Amino acid sequence: MADHVFQKCINAQCAATFSVDETRTACPSCGNLLDVCYDWEKLPIPQNLSYFEKYWSERNIPQRFSGVWRFQEMLPFTDLEKCVTIGEGQTLLQNAPCVAKYVGMKPDKLFLQYEGMNPSGSFKDNGMVAAITHAKLMGATAAACASTGNTSASLALYCGYTRLMKAIIFIGSGKIAYGKLSQALDYGAKTIQIFGDFDDAMNRVREVSQKLGLYLVNSVNPFRLEGQKTIMYRILEALNWEVPDWIVVPGGNLGNSSAFGKAFFELKMLGLIKRIPRLAVINAHGANTLFQLYEKEGVRWNEGRPDRAKIQAFFEQMNRENRRASTLASAIEINRPVNLEKCLRALSWCDGVVREVDDQEIVDAKSQIGANGLGCEPASAASVAGAKKLREEGIISPAERVVCILTGHQLKDPVTTVAYHSADATKFQETLGCRGVYRADFANSPLPVENDLEKIIAAIQE
Ligand code: F0G
Repeated sequence: MADHVFQKCINAQCAATFSVDETRTACPSCGNLLDVCYDWEKLPIPQNLSYFEKYWSERNIPQRFSGVWRFQEMLPFTDLEKCVTIGEGQTLLQNAPCVAKYVGMKPDKLFLQYEGMNPSGSFKDNGMVAAITHAKLMGATAAACASTGNTSASLALYCGYTRLMKAIIFIGSGKIAYGKLSQALDYGAKTIQIFGDFDDAMNRVREVSQKLGLYLVNSVNPFRLEGQKTIMYRILEALNWEVPDWIVVPGGNLGNSSAFGKAFFELKMLGLIKRIPRLAVINAHGANTLFQLYEKEGVRWNEGRPDRAKIQAFFEQMNRENRRASTLASAIEINRPVNLEKCLRALSWCDGVVREVDDQEIVDAKSQIGANGLGCEPASAASVAGAKKLREEGIISPAERVVCILTGHQLKDPVTTVAYHSADATKFQETLGCRGVYRADFANSPLPVENDLEKIIAAIQE
């Protein structure tokens, strides 16, 4: 591949570099994460962001139709014609006045970025298309991932559709929403359901990929994150290239937040934006490693030298207590986020904050998002619940422009939605196990009515 692109270890004490023609998900010298880096001086840089508007009229070219590759100049790790695409990234930024009211914002200040509109129903397709492109260039015949469900659905879809390679996915037993499991099976992926949770599956897939030479597409893959940067470009595009004040995103494995930080850092460095928005990463209370380390322990990026001893001690304590992640937002039920250090870097670039929200706050926020239209899965609603919390704390002010990322489609997890709306809270707890949801204040319950015309009419007019 071209000599203006390389991979680089993010650890400031190491900073080893590698060719992009190598498949690596960790630095061989120090074990830390890698970035895809560009020698921007040797590349044609757009003069301003409106440059990208010229591609709107080229939608007959598949790569320009793609919401990822129409920004290829910002992730130029290969030539445009070599980029795989199935039409990902046709997503929407919507103003959400009803949700704004719930959050405590002015009606025109809260926006929802619906990444559930991607082909596999989540934001993962943005990154998967970049990883699959790299895998294809590397000649991979099989790709693998561990997943809470959406990465696996995305990988399965890309492999099923393009027939470029086989998909092998690892999921924790009983830890995946049905919509997502159904996708992996339907798209024909080899699905290994191991006894354990996501963190266990992640460890295993790394081991197995190395042994069998499988191309690993979890977000430790730096090419994945290049694709996920484009979510931010599309938000800027939808705001007429104006920078919002806040980006609020749920945090699981912390790939998204890491990618968003890199996107804004690069745009600012290249002079394409004047300021960087603030980033809020929202953990579920039952999977709050980032919140604990960043907000409670004060761990910071520290120019590539975070307090690794403190991080290590935190995980050792977690092991000793056998603490497992537990939240109804199964997509972010992760205690050992693989992108922790990159996320710390993003928080430093974006003057970020981290908050945790509990399952009650998540399902209530989800019901408000659904009632406003389109909807989302539980993990995605953590963003709105987190924005509400930051509003209440006065950290976000009502007149600031806030974008919450809705990471996954409403139909990914219908069980939670139906349980909430069918409920009284006891029923909800019966269906899903008592996982910290005690009320269903915004339930829109179905009305049981006898099959009798008068009674049906009465029920409608009630
Ligand atoms: N929202 C949804 C719907 C997700 O599926 C995920 C992650 C996240 C948020 C968290 O994003 O990891 O970038 O911080 N799902 C992964 C998976 C882990 O396997 O599908 P992150």
